[in-house]
Amino acid sequence: ETGPAVALTQVSKVYEGGVRALDDVSLTVWPGTFVAVMGPSGSGKSTLMHCAAGLDSPTSGSVRVDGYEIAGLDETRRTELRRDRVGFVFQAYNLIPSLTIEDNITLPLRLAGRSPDREWVHALVERVGIAGCLDRRPAELSGG
Ligand SMILES: Nc1ncnc2c1ncn2[C@@H]1O[C@H](COP(=O)(O)OP(=O)(O)OP(=O)(O)O)[C@@H](O)[C@H]1O
Ligand SMILES: [Mg+2]
Repeated sequence: ETGPAVALTQVSKVYEGGVRALDDVSLTVWPGTFVAVMGPSGSGKSTLMHCAAGLDSPTSGSVRVDGYEIAGLDETRRTELRRDRVGFVFQAYNLIPSLTIEDNITLPLRLAGRSPDREWVHALVERVGIAGCLDRRPAELSGG
C-alpha cells in the first residue's frame, strides 16, 4: 500500500512583512498523477511549490513528502530530503554550465557520496532521447 507522494495539511505561509501567501491550504498528490497549479500572478503558486518540495518551510501546517514530515526540518535536513526524494524540472533549468549533461544528471548522487550506476543512467537517457548528448554541456543543447 502506498500513501500520497505529497500531502499538505492546513499549510499557511506568511512572509516577513506580513504577506499571507498561503492561507490554510490542503492538497494531496497521489503517485503517478499530474497536478497543474493555476492562478493569477501573486496568488501563491510558487510559494506552494516551494513549500511542497521542501525548498521553503511553511509558517504553520504539515507537509509530507513520501511520508516524511518536512515542515519542521532545518535547512540541512531539507536539503538531504530534496536530494534523495524530489526531482525538479525548473523553468530556467538551473543546470551547471561547466559540467557535461551526464555529470549534471549524476551530480546529486555524487553529492550524496554514491556512485552512479552507469547502466541505469544510460537506460534513463535512452528513454528520454538524450543519449547522444551526454558529453555536451548545457549551452550546446536545444532548449527543449
Ligand atoms: N520572499 C518573499 N518575501 C515576501 N513576500 C513574498 C516573497 N515571495 C513571494 N511573496 C509574496 O507572496 C505572494 C505570492 O507570491 P508567489 O510568488 O507565490 O505568487 P505566484 O502565484 O507564483 O505568482 P507568479 O504567477 O507571478 O509567479 C505575492 O504577494 C508575493 O508578493
Ligand atoms: Mg510564481
